Amino acid sequence: MTLKEEIQRRRTFAIISHPDAGKTTLTEKLLLFGGAIHVAGAVKSNKIRKTATSDWMEIEKQRGISVATSVMGFEYEDYKINILDTPGHQDFAEDTYRTLTAVDSVIIVVDVAKGVEAQTRKLMEVCRMRKTPVMIFVNKMDREGKDAFDILDELEEELQIAVRPLSCPIDMGERFRGVYNLYHRSLDLYQPSKQMVTESVHLEIASPELEKHIGDGLAKKLRGDVELITEVYPAFNREAYLEGRLAPVFFGSALNNFGVKELLDCFVEIAPSPRPVQSEERIVNPYEEAFSGFVFKIHANMDPNHRSCIAFVKVCSGKFGRNVNYKHVRFNRLMKFSSPTAFMAQKKEVLDEAFAGDIVGLPDNGNFKIGDTLTSGEDLHFKGLPSFSPEMFKYIENADPMKAKQLQKGIEQLMDEGVAQLFTNQFNGRKIIGTVGQLQFEVIQYRLLHEYGAQCRWEPIHLYKACWIESDDTAELDDFKKRKYQFMAHDKDGRDVFLAESNYLLMMAQQDFKHIRFHFNSEF
Ligand code: G4P
Repeated sequence: MTLKEEIQRRRTFAIISHPDAGKTTLTEKLLLFGGAIHVAGAVKSNKIRKTATSDWMEIEKQRGISVATSVMGFEYEDYKINILDTPGHQDFAEDTYRTLTAVDSVIIVVDVAKGVEAQTRKLMEVCRMRKTPVMIFVNKMDREGKDAFDILDELEEELQIAVRPLSCPIDMGERFRGVYNLYHRSLDLYQPSKQMVTESVHLEIASPELEKHIGDGLAKKLRGDVELITEVYPAFNREAYLEGRLAPVFFGSALNNFGVKELLDCFVEIAPSPRPVQSEERIVNPYEEAFSGFVFKIHANMDPNHRSCIAFVKVCSGKFGRNVNYKHVRFNRLMKFSSPTAFMAQKKEVLDEAFAGDIVGLPDNGNFKIGDTLTSGEDLHFKGLPSFSPEMFKYIENADPMKAKQLQKGIEQLMDEGVAQLFTNQFNGRKIIGTVGQLQFEVIQYRLLHEYGAQCRWEPIHLYKACWIESDDTAELDDFKKRKYQFMAHDKDGRDVFLAESNYLLMMAQQDFKHIRFHFNSEF
């Protein structure tokens, strides 16, 4: 196969949802179709059990298990599929954001009864920012839920994206009979069975055969619904989908394996193969011969006796090879890797080559930071790994004066791994750690002690948001920084960040300093 063919057949995507909507179940069914697993229940859930939320060591153990399942590659028909798993627990949302920088498209799972939930809304914001194509799977049709048209309205409104149903459900809950697949023009009948593939009859919606399958009443209703869809929604337009402006919607039940194959078949057909990636220097085309890739995730081994990490590299262009010299751009040094790993469904295996779209795992002893670039020689810096304003803040203080250096080093490395964000107050030099959830503070404290022998203490600070600021009016910017000097900090790259104590103070600042732009993520 040529390089171009290899890359074109790749589909790298993430499934995102609010916890419990059915992400794990859907992932498992997709793996079943790919023959990557043979029985249901074989996928270790990457979900963190609700009962374990206060015990983060337990969570880390579960996360440890999930390293192998955090990327699941498998072959389906002529396609190579890479599913990137995302942590279900919202305290690790930052991980999910970063994973989204490594995918070419996304499938969103929504529970038909619950509709769009908080975490889905937030993740969709990231997709919108990056213009990632999204497809939506409305799950749990075997249960009572909201009316299909209400769900479609809700999706459009809450996710701020135009939608186009590609299947139309026939009733729901106990009366659920299946869907009419508008993409393949077939009637897919529902059989509540966890292992069976849907019975699918190719049939035009006007065909009198429809009555034979679902009866007069439902046939009439279905024709009415399909007519309504055709009238109300724009015709499906692949360009609009690829540009992230239109989301195709499917209905089904992951648990009952209904609608999943249809989703997958349509997905491989219309979802994008690896897309060009913007670097600071230029746009990098995946089909270029030269290899390039970036680190989007670092997973630490929690065993203190083996302090090693795996750096996850998304291949952006060309072909990656084992034992080939590549340039670590930040170090300006050549490196080669003797045991890079591929992630094939559940097992990790050493790979010889990987192509644009694939994810490669590199064993790491502190050489990599999130965002690092590897290339065949060119100096490239990939953009698009934004930091978001954290939600929780604490001062970090040294609790063991003899170990100041270890603490410093530990904090630096953990921040490079992306565990949390560090802000240094410009006024008094105190260090502030920002996270999206309480758990990360515990993770940091534990890891500083066990991996670096350093002890830290947390002190409260009341902050609402950290905003990156910029302005074309340097005089106003200087004036702002002078007046707010107690609340100015530097982020890890030395950029100016304003620490707003409350929403009110932030709004006042925005009002008083009209030429300053306040950003809630670092990529603006
Ligand atoms: P998540 O990864 O998005 O958090 O969700 P997960 O797949 O774990 O699914 C959450 C719960 O919803 C699970 O039940 C799962 O069996 C159920 N579920 C998923 N898809 C469907 C569906 O199509 N119909 C129905 N009725 N239920 C569905 P659980 O009781 O929490 O877990 P388990 O004990 O069944 O594993």
